[in-house]
Amino acid sequence: MDKIGVLTSGGDAPGMNAAVRAVTRKAIYEGLEIIGIKRGYTGVIESDFMVMDRGSVADIIHRGGTMLHSARCEEFRTEAGRKKAIEQLKYGGIEGLIVIGGDGSFKGAQLLSEESDIKVVGVPATIDNDIACTDYSIGYDTAMNTILDAINKIRDTATSHERTFVVETMGRHSGILTLMSGLAGGAESILVPEIDFSLEEVCEKLNHGYERGKLHSIILVAEGIEQDFTSSTDNNESQAFAIAEEISNRTGFETRVTVLGHLQRGGIPTAQDRILGSRLGAAAVDLLLEGETNKMVGVVHEEVKSFPIEESLTRSKDLNKEIYKLADILSL
Ligand code: F6P
Repeated sequence: MDKIGVLTSGGDAPGMNAAVRAVTRKAIYEGLEIIGIKRGYTGVIESDFMVMDRGSVADIIHRGGTMLHSARCEEFRTEAGRKKAIEQLKYGGIEGLIVIGGDGSFKGAQLLSEESDIKVVGVPATIDNDIACTDYSIGYDTAMNTILDAINKIRDTATSHERTFVVETMGRHSGILTLMSGLAGGAESILVPEIDFSLEEVCEKLNHGYERGKLHSIILVAEGIEQDFTSSTDNNESQAFAIAEEISNRTGFETRVTVLGHLQRGGIPTAQDRILGSRLGAAAVDLLLEGETNKMVGVVHEEVKSFPIEESLTRSKDLNKEIYKLADILSL
């Protein structure tokens, strides 16, 4: 193998740059030519390629976002789109591809490796931390810290005004990011898609807190929860608003809503995410050099391991129910 490509795809995640840097410099160290592909699979189809040298990835390890830019590419979901992509990769002499992204990007990587002789390796990067076969994905730690910073600030104003705040966090269908941020942030209640909740219980807890002198509360709500309560609100954008209104109606407490949104995806990557990006990026190059394809790299109990992409897509990454219980106990 002489020439490989690297791209970042799907939702960006802090630490992606550290992974791009590691892939680039490890590839050069191993005597490979390395091509940076801009805008994920869109850039493959459009042949948006750039030759990378050591200097191309200078001064990026500490930056959020991704220097290669990212995209969610609809065309690549079609066979015709992937055919175009394969032609462009072949035309560019790219024999191996490293895909840094989440599960949607991994699905694309899997199809690409099955439909061509191009070797493909995935590096897990998503703030959601919902990819199986790795304890952590790149971006998760930074996002957790961003959420904590937000909770700290919200707590200040919640205390001053004696209000209940409903804070909505990202995570798509997973509640992992929300649960762990809620535990670390001391949230009074944590609502996640994996565990049924009753607003009645949330309100009871708030009332008990009030009886023992608590005048403010933080309820953390994962964006992926199912709406299973009644509300008069018309706001379908975020369930956090409906929940806040319902809590206010049932308890009489003054509520406010903060939807953290995309600020959770930005920011300076933490040490953990830079280290993870560096280790997994370099390991992905090693896998390609070993002739592997249709694999992903992950970190399990601090050790870098590899697994078939299929396994990471079909095994579910479960939310830790014991930690959920612990968060509940500690917030009583
Ligand atoms: O997968 C990362 C993520 O930030 C999810 O948490 C969120 O649901 C989604 O991406 C948002 O995607 P977009 O930036 O395309 O709106």
